[in-house]
Amino acid sequence: MKAVWWWWICIAVAAQVSMATAGEGNVTYDGRSLIINGQRKLLFSGSIHYPRSTPEMWPSLIDKAKEGGVDVIQTYVFWNVHEPQPGQYDFSGRYDLVKFIKEIQAQGLYACLRIGPFIESEWNYGGLPFWLHDVPGIVYRTDNEPFKMYMQNFTTKIVNMMKSEGLYASQGGPIILSQIENEYQNVEAAFHEEGAAYVKWAAKMAVNLGTGVPWIMCKQTDAPDPVINTCNGMRCGETFGGPNSPNKPSLWTEDWTSFYQVYGAEPYIRSAEDIAFHVALFIAKNGSYINYYMYHGGTNFGRTSSAYVITGYYDQAPLDEYGLLRQPKWGHLKELHAVIKNCSTPLLQGVQSNFSIGPLQQAYVFEEGRGACAAFLVNNDSRGNVTVQFRDNSFELLPK
Ligand SMILES: *[C@@H]1O[C@H](CO)[C@@H](O)[C@H](O)[C@H]1NC(C)=O
Ligand SMILES: *[C@@H]1O[C@H](CO)[C@@H](O)[C@H](O)[C@H]1NC(C)=O
Ligand SMILES: *[C@@H]1O[C@H](CO)[C@@H](O)[C@H](O)[C@H]1NC(C)=O
Ligand SMILES: *[C@@H]1O[C@H](CO)[C@@H](O)[C@H](O)[C@H]1NC(C)=O
Ligand SMILES: *[C@@H]1O[C@H](CO)[C@@H](O)[C@H](O)[C@H]1NC(C)=O
Ligand SMILES: *[C@@H]1O[C@H](CO)[C@@H](O)[C@H](O)[C@H]1NC(C)=O
Ligand SMILES: *[C@@H]1O[C@H](CO)[C@@H](O)[C@H](O)[C@H]1NC(C)=O
Repeated sequence: MKAVWWWWICIAVAAQVSMATAGEGNVTYDGRSLIINGQRKLLFSGSIHYPRSTPEMWPSLIDKAKEGGVDVIQTYVFWNVHEPQPGQYDFSGRYDLVKFIKEIQAQGLYACLRIGPFIESEWNYGGLPFWLHDVPGIVYRTDNEPFKMYMQNFTTKIVNMMKSEGLYASQGGPIILSQIENEYQNVEAAFHEEGAAYVKWAAKMAVNLGTGVPWIMCKQTDAPDPVINTCNGMRCGETFGGPNSPNKPSLWTEDWTSFYQVYGAEPYIRSAEDIAFHVALFIAKNGSYINYYMYHGGTNFGRTSSAYVITGYYDQAPLDEYGLLRQPKWGHLKELHAVIKNCSTPLLQGVQSNFSIGPLQQAYVFEEGRGACAAFLVNNDSRGNVTVQFRDNSFELLPK
């Protein structure tokens, strides 16, 4: 697929960015990006949920993601399959989280672990074990002592398990990021001031677990420091209000490559060009981490999904339900990743400026002192080609 929907200019680009997990180091961040081993990083990430495929498929799925220019594999942790009865745990077969993370590590990629433990994810009961329902006095996802006790218990269990296997980047492992809660702002108002108190408690509880890597909260504009608020959606370059502190980077945790499918509905088709346009726009506007949700959707085995969701999950992702390349999506995004990675140095070290180059056209330019420059010329018109002038050159841009 060769749809050239804008032109890219790179003058004297240096630097190849190493994609391998190299050595120990706590992960930090600044206003531009995550910082791993002292280096700013521009990262592409893909969601692959371990219970939605078989362990036999994991190496090939991860390999195809890596080949597609993905640096990070992101997954939720599925509480209800891991703790079917209080204190009785299951990490076997498709639920072998440690094996999954170690496979990511073996292939030299990073991992992002979204512990939740409420995850939604079109998963049965949002990932909460059903026995929680019978705990006396429990109210889910608010400032409620029984709920907080069980939530802390499970979160601690998972963090300790990762630590004992040496899987955090701070220990030389692949995990560079963790998530606590999930799109909580959607329901927060219903809990009044107890909702806000719960957000503060959840952030503090997570940070106190001392993972040595940052925590994120998605769709949570008031994520308490040092937790980073992140964006979910299809157009975060247009919709994200930005990080809630100038010292936090702009991260996109769910770029929906399609949408979950309910019984009786048609598949949601999102074109490769539309995904790529919005990825590039997000990078142009200072974004430095984008996760495809899903990169591989897979299969809802047994009765694991929400009641209204069909067995196949995000079959229209870059890898289809069976793990086969979904073209042109997979290949088009691979090329986009390569071009953007090629310009990492000016993007991460340069100074950004933006200006108008037409009624619906903008330029976003990143320039370094030594003359290296990367520019995004955006044609926001969906109607047709347009010709723009940029630095004494003329460029014909496709719509969007
Ligand atoms: C979680 O609760 C169980 C009892 O239900 C207890 O045995 C276990 O030690 C607790 N785990 C943590 C990590 O607090
Ligand atoms: C990483 O963070 C942990 C927990 O905050 C801390 O104990 C450790 O010393 C840090 N390691 C390095 C290399 O800075
Ligand atoms: C990108 O970041 C720079 C430096 O922090 C800032 O001046 C600029 O306004 C940002 N651009 C956008 C589009 O947010
Ligand atoms: C990377 O940049 C170099 C120098 O500008 C260029 O020759 C090369 O084709 C670029 N590669 C990609 C994948 O864009
Ligand atoms: C440049 O970016 C800023 C955000 O930093 C925005 O407010 C402004 O409208 C942009 N200007 C143009 C011409 O696109
Ligand atoms: C681009 O177009 C979309 C509608 O397609 C609009 O919502 C958005 O504000 C536009 N952005 C700019 C910078 O013109
Ligand atoms: C639009 O621009 C592209 C890139 O220059 C070109 O290949 C294509 O033929 C143009 N389409 C039209 C309708 O002019």
